[in-house]
Amino acid sequence: MSRTFDVGIESLAHQPVEAQHHDAPSPAAEPIRSASPPVVNGKSFYIETFGCQMNVHDSEKVAGVLLARGYRAAANPAQADLMLYNTCSIREKAAQKVFSRLGEWRGETQKIIGVLGCVAQQEGEEIFERAPWVSLVCGSASYRKLPDLVAELESGGRRVMALDLDTDETFETEITRRDNPIRAYITIIEGCDYACAYCVVPHTRGPERSRASDSVIAEARRLAEAGYTEIQLLGQTVNSYRDPSPRSLNFVELLQAVAAVPGIRRVRFTTSHPNDFHREIVDAIDATPAVCDHVHLPVQSGSTRILRAMRRTYTRDEYLEKISWIRGAKRAISITSDVIVGFPGETDEDFADTVSLLDAVGYDGVFSFIYSPRPNTSAASMPGAIPEGEKSRRLAFLQERQRQIQIARNAALVGGEFEVLVDARHAARGQWAGRTTSNRMVNFVSPRENLLGEYLQVRVTRAGPNSLVGEHVD
Ligand code: SAH
Ligand code: SF4
Ligand code: F3S
Repeated sequence: MSRTFDVGIESLAHQPVEAQHHDAPSPAAEPIRSASPPVVNGKSFYIETFGCQMNVHDSEKVAGVLLARGYRAAANPAQADLMLYNTCSIREKAAQKVFSRLGEWRGETQKIIGVLGCVAQQEGEEIFERAPWVSLVCGSASYRKLPDLVAELESGGRRVMALDLDTDETFETEITRRDNPIRAYITIIEGCDYACAYCVVPHTRGPERSRASDSVIAEARRLAEAGYTEIQLLGQTVNSYRDPSPRSLNFVELLQAVAAVPGIRRVRFTTSHPNDFHREIVDAIDATPAVCDHVHLPVQSGSTRILRAMRRTYTRDEYLEKISWIRGAKRAISITSDVIVGFPGETDEDFADTVSLLDAVGYDGVFSFIYSPRPNTSAASMPGAIPEGEKSRRLAFLQERQRQIQIARNAALVGGEFEVLVDARHAARGQWAGRTTSNRMVNFVSPRENLLGEYLQVRVTRAGPNSLVGEHVD
């Protein structure tokens, strides 16, 4: 996989509400359940989203909060009264991109320009210094305050900021404006209590907070009633979930409860931390057809020495043991990972260990990144920085090796038949695209029309490193 997390994912949250009526069978917004209907205030918003799925989903919730306050979605940034950037700070490039976007609004006085998310949390007041035309800065743990913050600006306030992290609240909304008509996200756990040496997330998202299981299951039911069949449970360490309510479900129990909701045919979850990855998760996948046979289990490095320096809490062998549980399952579970190259002190031997781990596991996809030093992280002051040229060389080598692994793994699927959930149409190519339960993308032809949201059997006729090609079979 060549996709990286710091490519800005431009959320569809800016699209006008009318544009939400896709051909798919499922409505994109949950019904508004507040006692009184929202008052139209004539103002509009546009959100551009960077970063991980949790940010994408936060933007859906922020859009819901604003719609409930009477805002409407603007067709483009120029038409918006409120322009929001939901930002990512995981690597330096991601954070820089936000400032270059903000630069496009230099001197703007007509609109409210706001920065949300991880750069907001990390840079705080500094954002007002670097871009004085920004008037709102709000971190993800404070989104419940957003309506009040916007109201303060509307009644003449010049600058508002909310960056509290000491909250055990998770961001629950009455209405979530879902952009993806096929796959619905539910955040089950916020923040992170690990302290990986390279990572900003514990600083930008705060301590770990799980959501009550009843509230998660009720949301899954509403989604099923609204026509969704696929749910993805989200968390930075999704499998560390601990139900704070008296029911006290563990992660596997919650997974199974969501999978048991009538109408739900697929449940995914991401991201799993190896430390909290237990055999019971594999057993649950085996026992529950609705739980998808895909595990994203980021390893970061194949060298135990580097894993220790990264404070990842497991060794290479412990990680490989967990992989052997997955490989021992009855279902052919697909495994994907994240890898960082060029962590301080990474020798040629350490890097070779990472490459050999790719071979040992046989991943179906890897997101690989060049180590990027981040503020407030312990790795930022570690000696042994790897020169940029060497980091790039390692990344290219690793990506090519992984590409070969994926070519071989996908080639073995040619001739097989898989159920796909159709999620896109490539009109120009006359093709549809869908995902298998193991999250492989299949582009295929079909004599039928209006397939978005349908489950179909597809026979694979060709395979590339990142996707499969096939034909619809009845
Ligand atoms: N919570 C998840 C992932 C968090 S961020 C987990 O624990 O696996 C997504 C990925 O970005 C990480 O898995 C890691 O591979 C990468 N990443 C995080 N910080 C980074 C940094 N400073 N430099 C380069 N890549 C980084
Ligand atoms: Fe970051 Fe580590 Fe937490 Fe993942 S587990 S979010 S990499 S600190
Ligand atoms: Fe980026 Fe924040 Fe997600 S740093 S990866 S948007 S948690």
